[in-house]
Amino acid sequence: ENSEKKELIEIHEKACEVYAYVLKDLAVGEKALAYLKNRELTEETIETFRVGFSPDDRKFLSTLFLKQGRKKEVLLKTGLFLEGDDGELFDRFSGRIMFPIRNEHGEVVAFSGRKVFTAEEAKINPDIKKTKYMNSPESLIFNKSQLLFNLDLAKNTIRKQGEVFLFEGQMDVIAAYQAGIPNGVASLGTSLTDKQIQQIARVCKSVITVFDGDNAGIKATNRAIDLFEKFPRLTLQIVSLSEGLDPDEYARKYGETSLVQTLKNGRISWFEFRKRFLRIEKNLENHAEQIGYINALLQELAKVSSNLEIDAYLNEITQEFPRFSYKVLLDQLKELQGKR
Ligand code: CTP
Ligand code: MN
Ligand code: MN
Ligand code: MN
Ligand code: MN
Repeated sequence: ENSEKKELIEIHEKACEVYAYVLKDLAVGEKALAYLKNRELTEETIETFRVGFSPDDRKFLSTLFLKQGRKKEVLLKTGLFLEGDDGELFDRFSGRIMFPIRNEHGEVVAFSGRKVFTAEEAKINPDIKKTKYMNSPESLIFNKSQLLFNLDLAKNTIRKQGEVFLFEGQMDVIAAYQAGIPNGVASLGTSLTDKQIQQIARVCKSVITVFDGDNAGIKATNRAIDLFEKFPRLTLQIVSLSEGLDPDEYARKYGETSLVQTLKNGRISWFEFRKRFLRIEKNLENHAEQIGYINALLQELAKVSSNLEIDAYLNEITQEFPRFSYKVLLDQLKELQGKR
């Protein structure tokens, strides 16, 4: 099985090289390269992340590999190819910008392929957005729910700085990298999993989630907060971007320096994020709604194991609502904890 894995990785490494070559040196890659430059990716970044392009020809890579004498059965196991009715091989990815997905040893184990289209083109034809990204299927070497994009390159800085930025997408990791923040990883569309958090817990204790500012990102943040309850030794902070922007869009709109500033200084605690979220569309002047809100916050605190953390957040609540004493909040909290 080990030698089989080795061969699958070797094929991925080769494919990665070929795709990178197509992007850099072939005419069929020109449009994709122009697109990436338009998104302000530098050549250095393209090389660091080994970005490539798969030509719009569904026989391109399969023909190349078969000519080199590779076995069809093995090629199919990579997930890079599909089999037609007559047993012919087709490339799974074509006409896409190829982001290699590397495991924590830096080996290419999968790809995420992005269609080349601009925001303007998507406005005219909204359907292309549906298949914007396509990822490799699970394989012997690729388990999506356990992998964090860029952990291999980011690991050293994460250890040194003691913290990691957790993004949604590879373009966000890349934008942060270009802005001078190399300790970013991404969960890659799979909504975050326990296994991915475990990977993080092995290298540092402080996590800053920077999900997209849109509704999906807010939902993902709330979900992340839930998941982190099971990891009391990790500190979770949140960066919430305005106007529905994602980190990459934020950097393009406000500049890389602003992104760095926001990532460093724009953090709030997970509790503050919940507070802001829970008070949306609530009228806290209304006593009933106020009590409902405070109860919801106490429900959150009932899941917290650290007394220090509980004390800090209870103090925040009493400061905001002085008509409730610390003691009564604590009593109420204890009651809620008892019910769990
Ligand atoms: N994703 C995916 N399949 C999709 C949409 C998204 O696998 N159909 C993953 C990709 O890894 C993507 C991440 O989820 O990077 C976040 O999705 P989204 O915010 O929609 O994409 P962006 O990263 O913002 O992509 P881009 O900036 O290239 O438009
Ligand atoms: Mn998401
Ligand atoms: Mn998103
Ligand atoms: Mn996004
Ligand atoms: Mn984006």
